[in-house]
Amino acid sequence: MMTHRPKVSIIGAGMVGHTTAHWLAAEEVADLVLVDIVEKMPMGKALDLTQAAPIRGVDVRITGSNGYDETAGSDVVVIIAGVARKPGMTREQLLDTNAGIVRGVVEQVTRHSPNACLIVVTNPLDAMTYLTYKVSGFPRQRVIGESGALDSTRFRAFIALEVGVSVEDTHGMVIGAHTDKDMVPLPRFAHVGGVPLAYLLPPDRIDAIVARTRRGGAEITELMGASAFFAPGAAIAQMVEAIVRDKKRLIPCSVFLDGEYGERGVCIGVPVLLGRGGVERIIEVPLNEPERAAFKASVAAVREQLGALKL
Ligand SMILES: NC(=O)c1ccc[n+]([C@@H]2O[C@H](COP(=O)([O-])OP(=O)(O)OC[C@H]3O[C@@H](n4cnc5c(N)ncnc54)[C@H](O)[C@@H]3O)[C@@H](O)[C@H]2O)c1
Repeated sequence: MMTHRPKVSIIGAGMVGHTTAHWLAAEEVADLVLVDIVEKMPMGKALDLTQAAPIRGVDVRITGSNGYDETAGSDVVVIIAGVARKPGMTREQLLDTNAGIVRGVVEQVTRHSPNACLIVVTNPLDAMTYLTYKVSGFPRQRVIGESGALDSTRFRAFIALEVGVSVEDTHGMVIGAHTDKDMVPLPRFAHVGGVPLAYLLPPDRIDAIVARTRRGGAEITELMGASAFFAPGAAIAQMVEAIVRDKKRLIPCSVFLDGEYGERGVCIGVPVLLGRGGVERIIEVPLNEPERAAFKASVAAVREQLGALKL
């Protein structure tokens, strides 16, 4: 069948994978291919979504597979294969297991879709993005880690709850490593409809929002005994849509730095413009002293993870 719709493959059709497919299908963003090693499961999930399409009125083709042939020529490939953390675990504890899985996936993906943008989701996120960049040999513009999109929507949700205002009017970004301890929410840049957050909330309430944002994922894991998927899926779908629709969205993502923010040879979250070419621009915002110190500590934490990667 001839199709002119964009093609997006999702490798790892677990909780985050199928939720991402759900958001993307609902918005009619692209034809989708779900891949997983669990026999037949991605075919079942693809069929389930296909059966929902008439109700939603969305014309997207959704395929499931246990192999990579169906992914050939994808515009975007989302890498979510791996194990997720359990209550009490940190994302960093997943490094060894997930590095082996991601390496194997990247080797397949690059062979079948040499021109794709790769969105990396598997944790520990910044190390897996770095690994993907190295193993794929793709230009850094096309290897993008999903971290800040999720951490920032959590930050915005908590601002909306605290101020009592529409989520639509909340803006805020989180940069740095995708870890509870080392992510860097930037409340100084946050605003509600153009009004700086500091005019709307006292410092202790802003501090509480920052603390809750850091533990945004951990709080959910403790509540339901498993890792989050609705917000992660929405965050990934936002990035996919920005790329396939060439929207030039400004979203913090983990990218390989080559001198930006005074750092080189590390993948970490910074604000970028996402469009058809992937990362079309890295935005350098002037950080004040405490923000710069927090970002530096975050880079050091990621470098420690990279040291444990066997490349
Ligand atoms: N970056 C983020 O913001 C973010 C957010 C949420 C989850 N995550 C991470 O995403 C990953 C997946 O989380 P989840 O909750 O969907 O877990 P999950 O266990 O529900 O799904 C993972 C899926 O990957 C599959 N898989 C394992 N090895 C594979 C391989 N070699 N090829 C293809 N598929 C393979 C598994 O069979 C499983 O279906 C975890 O590492 C998690 O920590 C990252």
